[in-house]
Amino acid sequence: MGQQAALPKELLITGGKIYDPATGKSRREDLGVKDGRLVDPASLRPEKAQVLDATGCVVTHGFIDIHAHFREPGREDKETLVTGSQAALAGGFTRVCVMPNTDPPIDSPEGVRATLERAEGLPVRVQVIGAITKGQRGEELAELREMRAAGAVAFSDDGQPIRDGQLLKRALQYTKDLGVPVINHAEDVHLRADGVMNESALSTRLGLPGNPVEAEGAMIYRDLLLAQDTGGRVHIPHISTALGVAQVRAFKGLGLAVTAEATPHHLGLTEELMRGFNTQAKVAPPLRTEENRQAVVAGLLDGTIDCIATDHAPHTVEEKEQDMLRAPFGMIGLESAFGLVHTTLRAAGMDIEGIINLLTAGPAAVMGFDLTPLKPGSPAELVVLRPDEEWTFTREDIYSRSRNSPMLGMTFTGRVVATLTPNGWFIQS
Ligand code: DOR
Ligand code: ZN
Repeated sequence: MGQQAALPKELLITGGKIYDPATGKSRREDLGVKDGRLVDPASLRPEKAQVLDATGCVVTHGFIDIHAHFREPGREDKETLVTGSQAALAGGFTRVCVMPNTDPPIDSPEGVRATLERAEGLPVRVQVIGAITKGQRGEELAELREMRAAGAVAFSDDGQPIRDGQLLKRALQYTKDLGVPVINHAEDVHLRADGVMNESALSTRLGLPGNPVEAEGAMIYRDLLLAQDTGGRVHIPHISTALGVAQVRAFKGLGLAVTAEATPHHLGLTEELMRGFNTQAKVAPPLRTEENRQAVVAGLLDGTIDCIATDHAPHTVEEKEQDMLRAPFGMIGLESAFGLVHTTLRAAGMDIEGIINLLTAGPAAVMGFDLTPLKPGSPAELVVLRPDEEWTFTREDIYSRSRNSPMLGMTFTGRVVATLTPNGWFIQS
């Protein structure tokens, strides 16, 4: 449970450790916030300033999610820009890049501008990823250059892979000088077929159609070859297999400027959650075996995978209550992201700074974003984390309009205590 409100006019954050991912340095110091900006704490009026006791906490740059689905326009019953940004703020995120698989898809400069206008003044900064193809039909390239000029920060038909390799090759050639990544949903549709979970001994036992690791591996390999051939910028989303991690590692080793992300659910959960025929665990790409999960974690530890992205994918209760074959793919992920990621990566030996980097400097580098320096004069873009707090993720923690999460009821170590932006703040109560 927490509260969301306007940022207090004056706020003193005391007793915390400050970690600035832009410099990689930590310091122990109080932080002042006044009128949405960081200030010298000495300049606050003690009788006016609200105090946030950050003892035992790490104060750092707000998280950046480069892969979320906010469903506006078209499916505002699942999520809107407003509710999605509230979910983001509760999860410690201060910036979110939204995917264009809305209804209609964001595939034009007008669409990009309309979303950016609607997102003005929201508690988090929303940036837009434009569709690669018109209508996300995978047939004809959209107006990539014009969308970039309108503010698109990347291109993706996410949800739908680009089946036609020639088309993706052209997208990479056209966007080469735009300096933004092309993000292709990495699943070969023919190999994926009608798979609803990872193809494994478990899928056979459950009698559910499987989606093999080769569906991801084949698509990632094709996209890496096309990036190498064109010199274009490919970013691999939601990597879920040992095969995929090994290929990205190999191509990075050859000097290719490719980047990759992993989701909290692929690094922290496995196909075991499908045992109870739980549709909340149905996601694309699917949750895999423990072996694959460990390969994703290893990829994060050795830098093969550049960042964490949530793939927050809200769906209605009615849709998710259908049977396993019919229920849509996807789970919400913003509010539980830090808990699941921190619990998992700390157990794997990563320190808090490394974990924060994967949620801040990592995604910023993938997209070419600047981080906000944590010093007086900067706009407030902060998250306060309590790494040692154990908590159970419940419905009360959800701000999204949807609640399709298999993480409900799970206990995590590491919690978001507060998130601050010039347009709002979230405080855990
Ligand atoms: O599980 C998923 N859901 N994977 C995707 O790539 C798309 C997403 C959605 O939009 O629901
Ligand atoms: Zn996707």
